[in-house]
Amino acid sequence: MWTLRVDNLEKTYDDGATWANNGISLSVQSGEVFGLLGPNGAGKSTLVKQIIGLLMPSNGSITLGDVDLVTDPDYARQLCSYLPQAPMPITAFKVREAIDIAGMIRGGSRPEVQKRRDQLIEILQLEEWRDTLGTNLSGGVKRLVGFAMAVVEPAPIVILDEPTNDVDPLRRRLLWQVVRDLGERGSGVILVTHNVLEAEKSVDRLAIIDEGKLIAEGTPSSLKNDDRGSLRLQLMLPPGSRTPPLPSYIGENVRVGNNVVGVIPETYAAEGIAWAQGLMTEGIADEYALGATTLEDVYVRLTGERSATT
Ligand SMILES: Nc1ncnc2c1ncn2[C@@H]1O[C@H](COP(=O)(O)OP(=O)(O)OP(=O)(O)O)[C@@H](O)[C@H]1O
Ligand SMILES: [Mg+2]
Repeated sequence: MWTLRVDNLEKTYDDGATWANNGISLSVQSGEVFGLLGPNGAGKSTLVKQIIGLLMPSNGSITLGDVDLVTDPDYARQLCSYLPQAPMPITAFKVREAIDIAGMIRGGSRPEVQKRRDQLIEILQLEEWRDTLGTNLSGGVKRLVGFAMAVVEPAPIVILDEPTNDVDPLRRRLLWQVVRDLGERGSGVILVTHNVLEAEKSVDRLAIIDEGKLIAEGTPSSLKNDDRGSLRLQLMLPPGSRTPPLPSYIGENVRVGNNVVGVIPETYAAEGIAWAQGLMTEGIADEYALGATTLEDVYVRLTGERSATT
């Protein structure tokens, strides 16, 4: 068992003009899948690049057990498998070769790596591209191959920066399963994602970062604690129409595109449904949905309007 600790981490760019990380503290344990969520520009990639030793913190510490990873970035790189946010060029290699090379660079033996490579190709349903050159792959398949390269011979810490970008919904689900398995095999996984609803099912704990600061941290259910006894009522309005006046029992609410999502007390469920059905009859709403609050509701509440466009 080990614990990675990030303590009061600060990172500025442009000679201190941009505070990308502003006093972030968190810890991740072996066997744990830890999610990092936050709006564009919040500082997530900056944080993980410091953990892996690609960027030097301006202040603060990153340790694994007794080892100071800031003073020993070579060791940090050995400890981490990393899928960067920016796609890696694998143009000159076939899919299976790229995955094999990545595994062997990490020190895996050829037969072991090939076995695991075949498993990943099968699990992620990449068989038809097995012998395709990197240049000829679609964006989503490239992303999946990058993911397979990062996890074929996983290091103790696996850092995945937006692994599901461009990936179709079915394969995203398969990918999340591989992420869960990595945790169960003992790696500590740090997962940066905008996919809040999917993250909710895949992470053990998560942190929400906004403007360089950690604004919430906990398990998905602990973060939803404040919403206990509440339901989410979502109204889908015709394109371009105004938000109708909302009844007083609808508390916090946010408009995202043509959707209005509000939180209502459970005791107002029947009234909420009747109200929404009335709006549909009048043609003010196209559809509505009433359900349990999600991590996305918590996320939108905490990060505010800026996240509404992501
Ligand atoms: N090399 C750099 N030089 C100057 N500023 C940078 C640099 N890299 C990032 N930044 C700035 O630091 C802040 C945090 O960026 P970062 O890439 O860590 O955000 P992020 O949370 O990963 O966002 P996204 O979800 O869009 O990937 C942003 O304001 C960004 O513009
Ligand atoms: Mg990023």
